[in-house]
Amino acid sequence: MCGITGIVTQDRNDIGRLLVMCSRKLTYRGYDSVGVAAVHRGKVYLKKDVGTIDEVDARLGLSKMPGDRGIAQLRWATYGAPTQVNAQPHYGCTEEFYGAHNGNLHNYYEYRQELIETGHTVRSWNDGELCVHAVDKYYEQTGDMFEAVRLSTRDLKGAFAYAVGRADTQEIYAVKMGSSLVAGVAPTETIVSSDLPSILPLTNRVVYLDDGEMVVLRPDSVKVYRVEDGKELNRPVQVSNVDPHAAEKGGFPHFMLKEINEQPQVARDVMGLLHSNESEEWLRLIEDASHIYLVACGSSYNAGIVGTYYFNRLAGIPVTPAIGGQFIPMYARTLTEDSLCILVSQSGETKDILNVLKLVKREGLGKTLGVLNVIGSSLMFGADAYIPMGCGYEVSVPATKTYFSQTVIFADLAARLGARNGMLDQSEADRFVSALRDDLPRLTQETIDRTGILAKNLAPTLMGEHDLYCLGYGLTDGVAREGALKIKEICYNHCEGMYSSEFKHGPLSIVTDNYPVIFVTTTEDSWMVINHINEVACRGGRAIIVGEHEDSLTPYVKSKTDYLVVPKSEVLINPILDVIPLQLLSYFLSVDLGINPDLPRNLSKTLTVD
Ligand code: F6R
Repeated sequence: MCGITGIVTQDRNDIGRLLVMCSRKLTYRGYDSVGVAAVHRGKVYLKKDVGTIDEVDARLGLSKMPGDRGIAQLRWATYGAPTQVNAQPHYGCTEEFYGAHNGNLHNYYEYRQELIETGHTVRSWNDGELCVHAVDKYYEQTGDMFEAVRLSTRDLKGAFAYAVGRADTQEIYAVKMGSSLVAGVAPTETIVSSDLPSILPLTNRVVYLDDGEMVVLRPDSVKVYRVEDGKELNRPVQVSNVDPHAAEKGGFPHFMLKEINEQPQVARDVMGLLHSNESEEWLRLIEDASHIYLVACGSSYNAGIVGTYYFNRLAGIPVTPAIGGQFIPMYARTLTEDSLCILVSQSGETKDILNVLKLVKREGLGKTLGVLNVIGSSLMFGADAYIPMGCGYEVSVPATKTYFSQTVIFADLAARLGARNGMLDQSEADRFVSALRDDLPRLTQETIDRTGILAKNLAPTLMGEHDLYCLGYGLTDGVAREGALKIKEICYNHCEGMYSSEFKHGPLSIVTDNYPVIFVTTTEDSWMVINHINEVACRGGRAIIVGEHEDSLTPYVKSKTDYLVVPKSEVLINPILDVIPLQLLSYFLSVDLGINPDLPRNLSKTLTVD
């Protein structure tokens, strides 16, 4: 949530252009409002408003702002409504100070009051403004910007990062206190940002920061210090090999469609990573644990449900899937020194997941294995070991290829663990792993090609349906939940994902003539799912089926359009493929409804708040 970018140049005068170019790459973090503070000839100019970066740039000319340094912010609203006054960056009491933050201040109300009582002019209801005032306050006491920024962190509680500057100093200062922050060193400028994609247009030479650290950008240097005592830290510049073009649409109308189409390549790449030398450590961590929790949020949680079935089915390993935010109240006291938390997070920055990571580390309660996509994320640095999803940047807010990769990871690990613990014949495991490696990329491509057309035709028939269900059984339980989440998220239709045998325990009463219920099935479970379809169909409901072609299923669909037929594959691959028509259906429905699926309203891709 929220993205900040600060840039200091060597005598350039096009800071607005640079900030807009780089910040645009953080659009997935927030698009409620946007602002740029640019320093030009010792004066701070601030422009900000409600809307996406492209909208606000067109309205206010952000990219035309002159200056040699400045800060931009893209906001996902938490404290304070998404209005112009609450948009970031903010001034301090005077227009000397400027700054913006990402994260949440938990002592916002008390601190705002305290500042007002001590004479500060607080203009907005946004917590980011208080970061600038805190610096302003300590500058008044010390007359030194470095000290003012360092001391300001003591007043602020929560998880956040912020960047600040002063009209008369050429530096920009930024602190990382629980939210992501990374810096970059380009030939003619230095940059600090909430995330790597906005650094890459300028440079691939990056400096990773840890919590409790502060970075000072000068025109030709980036220096890192410990916030606690101001000690300078020796932090090497690393070369990132992330493709800067990953954050471009590459001819597709939306990132979401591009990312769905990247899944065959993801299948190849992730299988390569899963069979690297590090995999022995991942398998050992799982084998050595007395109890395994699989902790994740949203789509990652849905993939975790699929994973839980794979671990049971292929390896007889009990795994408890847990929603990130629910984990501590529900399971914290059941952790022991031998537990393992598999923390699954595309961004590696989701606060609900990092809370679990911190608890496990602080209390010494077992081990953590991250499953993550963003290299350089907090989860990557904090976990005992991590498995990369190998997807490249996922820009579209709805997760697609990362969810897909997660299910492949769980399928592969479960099969290999099953072979090691004797639950699966070695030959069976080898055959399945070979199918994942050799057949899955082709099958994924075929699924996209075939079901893309079917989903495109089905979407218009669902335009008026504002309420539907998506049901799965066994291995497709998590797939159905994921399909429902996609439809909710980018079509703004209520779609509940649930276990198909549960439907009769209450929700069935909603079914009337033509009420749509999507059933997702594997060939192994279709005999059972037919019962559940019958319960809906005999009440006049409309069954939409996702799965392989089966003669036994065809009588249950009212029209051909209602059967999203995936190519034939072995049964344990079915759940990996079944999600694709649901991704495509939600995509086409969203576009038909006139929604931009990449930027659904009210959302942010990286949720660094509780
Ligand atoms: C839905 C979606 C979200 C994320 C969730 C967790 O399409 O993308 O539900 O899956 O916010 O994010 P990560 O995986 O980054 O922890």
